[in-house]
Amino acid sequence: MSTDAIVLLKDEHKLIRKAFTDFEKAGENAHAAQGAAVDRIIELLTVHTFIENEVMYPRVRELLPDLEDDVLESYEEHHVADVLVVELAALKPGAERFVAKTTVLIENVRHHMDEEEQEWFPKVREGLGRKALQELGAAMVEARKTAPRSPSQPSALKKTIDAVIS
Ligand SMILES: [Fe+2]
Ligand SMILES: [Fe+2]
Repeated sequence: MSTDAIVLLKDEHKLIRKAFTDFEKAGENAHAAQGAAVDRIIELLTVHTFIENEVMYPRVRELLPDLEDDVLESYEEHHVADVLVVELAALKPGAERFVAKTTVLIENVRHHMDEEEQEWFPKVREGLGRKALQELGAAMVEARKTAPRSPSQPSALKKTIDAVIS
């Protein structure tokens, strides 16, 4: 099985996009379906952000210094998503801001994933090459095993704190 890092991340993006459309298709009054979709979105984003923040971005930053500005911008975009995810995790479907907050989260993350897929991943692929991407992917598969699945887990909170103080 391929462990190409970019292939793995794009597969995760697909699952995230699917959870977004599940939310949008649920309809304004379908609280149970909206709640289930948001639970899934929160879990997928918590895992995905952890893997990119802890494995992918630091490695790319180290190996491809020219992409440093892109990496820093990505950390900030992840941080904005983290803030919304933490707030959303505390809201119940039906709460006044639940749909609005989810909609803004979806808009932000779609924009970020589009940028990664269309602009950033191609640069990373060109810069790193096949072998390094395979190794990076293998490290991501390993990190996935212990990745936080909810934003309240300490390892998820740590990266939120890092984004503010480091
Ligand atoms: Fe990202
Ligand atoms: Fe991503």
